[in-house]
Amino acid sequence: MAIEHWRQILMLLFISLVFIGAVNAEFLRFKHQNSPIKEQCDIFRGKWISDPLNPPYTENCNSMDYYLNCLKNGRPNREYLHWRWKPYDCDLPHFDSEIFSDMMKDKSFAFVGDSLARNQMESLMCLLSKVEDPQLVYQDATIPRTRTWYFPSFNFSLASIWSPFLVQPDSPIVDVLSRQPIRLHLDNVDSSWASRYHEFDYLLVGVGAWFDHRTIIMENNSVVGCHDCKYERMPEIGTPYIYHKAAELAFNFMIASEHKPFVMYRTHTPNHFENGRWDQHGNCNRTMPFKEGEFEGDERDRELLSIGREDFTKAANSAEGCENLRLLDIFHLSVLRPDGHPDKYRGLEGLPNDCLHWCMPGPIDAWNDLMMEMILRRREELEHGY
Ligand SMILES: *[C@@H]1O[C@H](CO)[C@@H](O)[C@H](O)[C@H]1NC(C)=O
Ligand SMILES: *[C@@H]1O[C@H](CO)[C@@H](O)[C@H](O)[C@H]1NC(C)=O
Ligand SMILES: *[C@@H]1O[C@H](CO)[C@@H](O)[C@H](O)[C@H]1NC(C)=O
Repeated sequence: MAIEHWRQILMLLFISLVFIGAVNAEFLRFKHQNSPIKEQCDIFRGKWISDPLNPPYTENCNSMDYYLNCLKNGRPNREYLHWRWKPYDCDLPHFDSEIFSDMMKDKSFAFVGDSLARNQMESLMCLLSKVEDPQLVYQDATIPRTRTWYFPSFNFSLASIWSPFLVQPDSPIVDVLSRQPIRLHLDNVDSSWASRYHEFDYLLVGVGAWFDHRTIIMENNSVVGCHDCKYERMPEIGTPYIYHKAAELAFNFMIASEHKPFVMYRTHTPNHFENGRWDQHGNCNRTMPFKEGEFEGDERDRELLSIGREDFTKAANSAEGCENLRLLDIFHLSVLRPDGHPDKYRGLEGLPNDCLHWCMPGPIDAWNDLMMEMILRRREELEHGY
């Protein structure tokens, strides 16, 4: 008798929990669709708070590169999966695959940049895997990293365009491990994305990791200098200048273009090598986020961050044609997450540890929470006519 009674109570409790959960989800959805959180709230200023929930997808997502699948590659600790980004002045809703796929119906989206841009795109694909796994519909013959996926259920195209400098290389950049200098035309945007710019409704642009690479710099088709090639009799051109020129050129192209997709420019992303540089057995084996102020990034990373912010601000304040540009300012929230990198769990023997890319699932999923919020806010603005 007593057992029966308890069963009923438990059942009732269970039903009401499910009900509350459903109402709550509806409420969040309503809130999300109708009033994107306070316009004035800076979503990039905040802190990581602990989060008992499981990540939005598992190591079984089909859309990630094996070197980002830290769990499958044997990472033993899992604390890094239980943090969520909390802006000081508001709450940032988690990425919602249903709302996102509704918004992206009949749209096309490109991620342009380096392997960190691709890292974010793969996070997006895993977040969307609840809705659908996409079909690969295009792969570039010379640059296999340039691909397009298609999501039939909501007629959405998602392109990944390999352009690690945003400016035109003299020949396709294929061998990522080569130390041979790359010739760059610092006065031309890379046609690999510029020639396809008109195809897209949304772009996410992210570069930075390649700008220390040995490069020969050309302007007006002649060599003007060189970066990191001491043996050449050419003036040395520093990383900051090249990074700045590339951003400026890309923004000028976007401002001048008749086509106005929604463009999110991602700031430089920090590395967390400790106990040595990347090529000196450096590693990143922390298992907890940093506290506010504990680490603010190394000097080079902070320098590229401020150049990117300055160039963006300058472009966004130019007179006309820039209403569609936004800054995805992920540096601060990312610099607090030394625990989010593959480190030695990258599925490859004999290569340096990876303290640059981000484990999936992991902190990089928050970049897409932010991205979604930016798109919602933009939609709100357009509805109000500005
Ligand atoms: C899919 O979206 C494109 C625009 O991106 C549109 O031209 C096309 O008609 C759509 N196809 C269907 C079947 O709705
Ligand atoms: C580019 O080079 C050509 C000759 O190669 C020269 O006539 C022209 O003035 C140069 N333009 C600029 C902007 O330097
Ligand atoms: C992290 O790496 C350092 C340097 O390689 C090592 O001394 C330390 O024991 C490692 N910590 C853990 C928890 O593995």
